[in-house]
Amino acid sequence: SKKPVRVAVTGAAGQIGYALLFRIASGEMLGKDQPVILQLLEIPDEKAQNALKGVIMELEDCAFPLLAGIEAHSDPMTAFKDTDYALLVGSRPRGPGMERAELLSINGAIFTTQGKALNAVASRNVKVLVVGNPANTNAYIAMKSAPDLPAKNFTAMLRLDHNRAASQLAAKTGKAVAAIEKLAVWGNHSPTMYADYRNATIDGQSVKELINDEQWNREVFLPTVGKRGAAIIAARGLSSAASAANAAIDHMRDWALGTNGKWVTMGIPSGGEYGIPKEVMFGYPVTCEGGEYKIVQGIEIDAFSQECINKTLKELTDEQDGVKHLL
Ligand code: NAI
Repeated sequence: SKKPVRVAVTGAAGQIGYALLFRIASGEMLGKDQPVILQLLEIPDEKAQNALKGVIMELEDCAFPLLAGIEAHSDPMTAFKDTDYALLVGSRPRGPGMERAELLSINGAIFTTQGKALNAVASRNVKVLVVGNPANTNAYIAMKSAPDLPAKNFTAMLRLDHNRAASQLAAKTGKAVAAIEKLAVWGNHSPTMYADYRNATIDGQSVKELINDEQWNREVFLPTVGKRGAAIIAARGLSSAASAANAAIDHMRDWALGTNGKWVTMGIPSGGEYGIPKEVMFGYPVTCEGGEYKIVQGIEIDAFSQECINKTLKELTDEQDGVKHLL
């Protein structure tokens, strides 16, 4: 049987953590033959550490055959020791009335500390997924704080946007969501993301031709996907957690185990592809194989797409400029 791998999760006692840990431990992320050791990080605060203890009791009570160990931590330097996978979920999202500078400085502190800890103690092959918002910029901060690790090991979660877009297209066309191929989401995990179905197919048919309604694309589809997080908060009184955890599972599973040629979306450091400046943590369509992702090349960018990409890129470069002084 396989040797256990180490999976670190931050914000482990939060909402997303509660929807995520049980699925990792049951083998949904890395495969039903891959034992895992969970290395869980929460803030030192007594309430958070107690909540984490409760979650660990429940994990124990599931008696998961693949769960080879559980550790509780309050310091990233121990939480990330030898870790093979790191899911950085805990962060400080923007609260009502919070100034942008305050948001950036709080997250700057969290993600420089965690990036440095990964740099110091994690496996040299660690795969890092940042879920905590602002996810792209937090991933950028962690990457810049870990100069001894390959930059390509740092990624941000755009998969929820990808899955939301796929689900809207399935509903619009009346087809099965699993049949959708070649969907792309470009840019920032924010309402400016550009979900692009120009190349998408369902059972081999062009989605664009099936829908044949450019006004729906611009006035219904893009705003619906972009504002989906806010719509869920309005309905549920809480932010999306189960669907975010599900997207994190999808992202890591596909990166680790491959996509069989299927396009998925990951936020990754640009190497200059599609005119995006190097190092910008940008949502791109990728395929994964052998534990590596590869950007889908050769997609034609028309005038409207370029306009959308420029807008989300501007937002990201502004965010990343805003944290330069912290790095
Ligand atoms: P939550 O508030 O329920 O849980 C966050 C947990 O992180 C808390 O238990 C908190 O104590 C912990 N935490 C905060 N700072 C930490 C640190 N420095 N180290 C370790 N733990 C820390 O929030 P929830 O709902 O679980 O969401 C987590 C994050 O995910 C938020 O930033 C949210 O905006 C983001 N999110 C991102 C999505 C995406 O698609 N990228 C989708 C949905 C949410």
